[in-house]
Amino acid sequence: MNLRQIFDLIQKTGILQLIKIKKFHDSTLTYARNFMTSYCLCALFNVGFFDELSKKKTVNLDIFSANRNINDKILTAICDYLFVLRILNKRERNYILGAKGKSLLKFSVGTFDFIYAYAPLFENLDSLLRNDKKYNVDVFRRNKYVAKATAEVSQFIPIPIVKDIIRKRNFKSILDIGCGSAEFLLQICEDSNLTGYGIDISKEAISYAEGLINEKSLNHRVHVKAGDIFDIEQLKSTSENIDVISSMFVLHEFLSRGQDIVIDLLKKIKRSFPNKYLIVCELSRFAPSLLRKHPSSIAEHHLFHALSEQGLLTVEEWRGVFKKAGYSLIEEKRYDFAGQAYFVLT
Ligand SMILES: C[S@@+](CC[C@H](N)C(=O)[O-])C[C@H]1O[C@@H](n2cnc3c(N)ncnc32)[C@H](O)[C@@H]1O
Repeated sequence: MNLRQIFDLIQKTGILQLIKIKKFHDSTLTYARNFMTSYCLCALFNVGFFDELSKKKTVNLDIFSANRNINDKILTAICDYLFVLRILNKRERNYILGAKGKSLLKFSVGTFDFIYAYAPLFENLDSLLRNDKKYNVDVFRRNKYVAKATAEVSQFIPIPIVKDIIRKRNFKSILDIGCGSAEFLLQICEDSNLTGYGIDISKEAISYAEGLINEKSLNHRVHVKAGDIFDIEQLKSTSENIDVISSMFVLHEFLSRGQDIVIDLLKKIKRSFPNKYLIVCELSRFAPSLLRKHPSSIAEHHLFHALSEQGLLTVEEWRGVFKKAGYSLIEEKRYDFAGQAYFVLT
């Protein structure tokens, strides 16, 4: 800090003006910084910069940009910004992760995929507010990244919980509706002899899933296809002799059109797959006054679900939906701190 410059400014503007500028800077910088950092990190994730860093520990910007046909000036600007923020460290053109960057990568848990997935909504927020544009007509989320992000989040609570439910009941074959990247199916099938079938409406998510299934050489036991779960005939033809159906973070996607659509879907599933178990993993809704007391990431989940016309229900409301669909609840687990609830139904 150059004191002479500060004194000069105090003489010209007065100390109060300077304090005002400092307060303004301190209170708003965090928003600008979080916004820009998020976009920079998303872009670097998407061009494979962090994969390269994880593999090689250091990335030379000249080599990286030449090999991947990447704009060198923009890459340098982003990396230097992240260097300023101590997310990256550098020596000349070689960049490594800084301490902040290391913990960011370790604990990001799908955050940047979620941001990127829903970024189009935020970029069009004023048009959506003014009703100039409509979600799913003019503005779309990025489905592949929704699937990727959900899969990453699922590692921590959903997959271990559902694995345990499946292991206890000795199921042999499962149909996962709205399977996304198939990460859930892969994880539950790879260390058991379970056969998995998955269906998802997003062709992008299914082709990403097929890549993962190939990588893990599980093509003989994990089968996925693109399709609409409301097409019950297609759903039936997707799988053979399954013991259980799973629905991981899917049903809330349809709630903007009311609960009846979900109740109807579940009724049809129950009729088409009689005596089969149904495992539902869902997000639960909390009142803003409660979230205000504990403003965790559930607040962001509530926001982007509302913007993309998805609904959320409380655990009690979910129970009501299952009952109306004719299902009996045989096990329930809820983890309110994570906004998640698990229902085993039959
Ligand atoms: C939040 S993601 C969950 C993905 C996956 N179950 C998981 O836990 O990782 C919701 C998924 O439902 C899929 N989906 C939405 N509507 C669908 C429909 N009508 N038929 C099949 N899949 C659908 C989306 O494409 C998306 O992959």
